[in-house]
Amino acid sequence: MYWKKLNHNEINNRVQEAISQNINYRETPLLGIPGSFLDEEEFYPEAPFLEDSPFLATFINNPNHIGCHTLTKDKSEPFFRGTQQLEIEVIKLCGEQILGGNEDDQDGYIAPGGTEANIQAIWLYRNYFQQEFDAKIEEIALVYSEDSHYSMPKASNLLNVQSIVVDVDNDTRLIQLNDLDRKISTAKEKGVKYFIIIQNMATTMFGSVDDIDAMTDYLTQTNTNFKLHVDGAFGGFIYPFVSENNAMTFKNPHVTSFTIDGHKMLQTPYGTGIFVVRKGYMKYGLTDEAKYVSGKDYTICGSRSGANAVTIWMTLMAHGSMGWTVKMQNLLDRTEVVCGKLDKLGVSYFRHPDINIIAIKSDCISRELAQRYHLIPNTSDEQPQWWKIIIMQHVKKGMLDKFLLELESERTLHLKK
Ligand SMILES: Cc1ncc(COP(=O)(O)O)c(C=O)c1O
Repeated sequence: MYWKKLNHNEINNRVQEAISQNINYRETPLLGIPGSFLDEEEFYPEAPFLEDSPFLATFINNPNHIGCHTLTKDKSEPFFRGTQQLEIEVIKLCGEQILGGNEDDQDGYIAPGGTEANIQAIWLYRNYFQQEFDAKIEEIALVYSEDSHYSMPKASNLLNVQSIVVDVDNDTRLIQLNDLDRKISTAKEKGVKYFIIIQNMATTMFGSVDDIDAMTDYLTQTNTNFKLHVDGAFGGFIYPFVSENNAMTFKNPHVTSFTIDGHKMLQTPYGTGIFVVRKGYMKYGLTDEAKYVSGKDYTICGSRSGANAVTIWMTLMAHGSMGWTVKMQNLLDRTEVVCGKLDKLGVSYFRHPDINIIAIKSDCISRELAQRYHLIPNTSDEQPQWWKIIIMQHVKKGMLDKFLLELESERTLHLKK
């Protein structure tokens, strides 16, 4: 993995050049489109700082990136060609550098978030099975672990595809293969022939990473017809940078698509989910009736701000691959220190070694302390079993030290009782 770091001027020049290739709502006779420049009372274009602020300048330029530009390229809406090109570069970089795909072998787009990117994948595969195998809806099932994000049941509901939720081991958080076998075999007996499999590149609550080889070995040994999507909404910008034996890449022939979110680990603004898929699959999301859109639409959301793609491009360029790797390693180091302290205190927790999430067992910490430091419980409506800490950039060492001191004193008191 390698891409070069750019300095602020290089980033600014490239973005301003892209903006200059977009239409300017003020100068072009644009009589037919349902968009305009932003309301001038709040967003005045002559603000002097815009020249040196590529994100704000793009935001004010107000490009609509509707469609899928890696796929339709020159046929996409001509008005926003400049910034669409930056989106194409983001998908290329994510698909090839971060996710290990072959050159020019991936499509994708900047989705509003991880939820949509996951649903997009499931939507494409449902349609793939229906169009290529004439599958009936009751012959298709969506398979995911109980630790998966709630976008999976949401997708199941929206797309009318039944869910198979597989148990995980309480300590390792790994999918229980006997439960998988039992549930898939029962589904097959009931007539299910096509499976959409989700594998997590870090679950929301635990940061656990599914054992994709165990899953695909099982599926191939049982002659199961499947398509596999990796939900890397949380882990996408950390795990591929720090893991030494990452099987969740496009080099793995069983993987067809990924969700990786900018607005989690990459610290880009909300609205920066990323969907990346092998070429040949976006066509299953074509809405042919989108006739007024040049290049038509292949996404769930339709209109979306081009400024989001630009922020991802800028952030990736500002660090380069080496800078980003160091930044993620530093977060892991900080996580490691906390785990070492928890070990000394005899606190039980789950943590994957390549992920910056620590889930503490609820009998090792009081609710008061957990809530004072805003740890997140695994459930908000009953007695939680786990409280999680995510070591993000804002979670500084001093803050962690204070938390650990308080945890130590409450545990000492507890032991004395
Ligand atoms: C693993 C995982 N997938 C999907 C999502 C959904 O992302 P979003 O909230 O951006 O839709 C999340 C959010 O936390 C997540 O952790």
